[in-house]
Amino acid sequence: MEKNDHILPKDFPELKNDTFLRAARGEEVEHVPVWCMRQAGRYLPEFREFRAGKDFFQTCRSPEDCCELTLQPLRRFPFDAAIIFSDILVVPQALGMDVQMLAGKGPTFPEPLKEPDDLQRLRKKVDVASELGYVFRAITLTRHKLEGKVPLIGFSGAPWTLMSYMIEGGGSTTHSKAKRWLYRHPEASHVLLKRLTDIIVEYLVGQVKAGAQALQVFESHAGCLGPVEFKEFALPYLKDIACRVKDGLKEEGLDNIPMVVFAKDGHYALEDLSQSHYEVVGLDWTIDPRAARNRTGGKVSLQGNMDPCALYATKECISEIVKSMVEAFGTRGYIANLGHGLYPDMDPESVGAFVEAVHAHSRRLLNH
Ligand code: CP3
Repeated sequence: MEKNDHILPKDFPELKNDTFLRAARGEEVEHVPVWCMRQAGRYLPEFREFRAGKDFFQTCRSPEDCCELTLQPLRRFPFDAAIIFSDILVVPQALGMDVQMLAGKGPTFPEPLKEPDDLQRLRKKVDVASELGYVFRAITLTRHKLEGKVPLIGFSGAPWTLMSYMIEGGGSTTHSKAKRWLYRHPEASHVLLKRLTDIIVEYLVGQVKAGAQALQVFESHAGCLGPVEFKEFALPYLKDIACRVKDGLKEEGLDNIPMVVFAKDGHYALEDLSQSHYEVVGLDWTIDPRAARNRTGGKVSLQGNMDPCALYATKECISEIVKSMVEAFGTRGYIANLGHGLYPDMDPESVGAFVEAVHAHSRRLLNH
């Protein structure tokens, strides 16, 4: 028996702060809920200390370590949600690809996919429960250890974003190797995107079964596509994921949970994203909040979108920026966040100022 196998996804502590879940469903709240992408990260000295000398993906495979890193930011700040510490690249690993996290370089695939024939190298059948069971165990353990303080968000990378990593072999500015596949090998691209979608659906349902109370799908590389390519190679799979996860939960006898889609730099697709069966659309900072409300027609809740770099400003300035942002989005159907993740050189005190400003300005607007 593996460690933690005795910790079961049942008898979870009662949820004390459901503000995030209510905002996701467009219900009334006392304050606007707030969390930050990469809230567990290198900007926290305790994170750097804990991770020192350990391999990144080894850490991801330890439910105890993931639990500790998920909880760290919540000990400092009154965030309204926790996000499980893991990474989107555990899915390509489950397909049999080697992925390493190299200091100063970021995620690296020593043998990326080069031509469609390379798809043969991927595992034909992925047993999600055994390949990614460590993420499920991390979620169950963290759900217990959170003691119902706030809801726990699970996540996955979206098919196009994962495909681009698998072909590029790491970070890229142009994504030209991956985009070459879209133009030169559209059929093989769809084969790969479909394989990823099937695994992601099972992976996300498994996360909810393990205790995740909301899910976010990261389409981090939406920005390198145009509207036509997005409609063909990203949107259908994002929609398929939302619909099939919801069906999967029903089949398992689980309650529906809110799903967030975050397509970074995908402003051109905002209307489509708001009709793709997600309860929440996450926004980066290049979108004006009022324009986003108009273009999504009140059909979805919105999440975002302060420029992370605004955290380099003074506390007073952060408070002013947050005030305008909350007024522009409005307090209903709104979850405050940054437009992308926190950077390692950011000051934890500025993060505290951001969270406090969201709570204070929204309470004032709501007369609470
Ligand atoms: O707090 C959280 O947000 C939860 C944990 C989380 C991580 N990665 C931990 C992490 C989440 C949600 C992710 C998602 C992720 N991973 C995305 C999608 C979000 C986005 O940023 O658009 C992407 C593209 C990745 C791939 C990845 N992993 C990158 C680009 C990097 C940074 C590499 C670098 O050197 O800057 C990582 C590493 C990573 N994932 C870190 C953390 C906290 C930092 C490295 C470390 O801890 O050693």
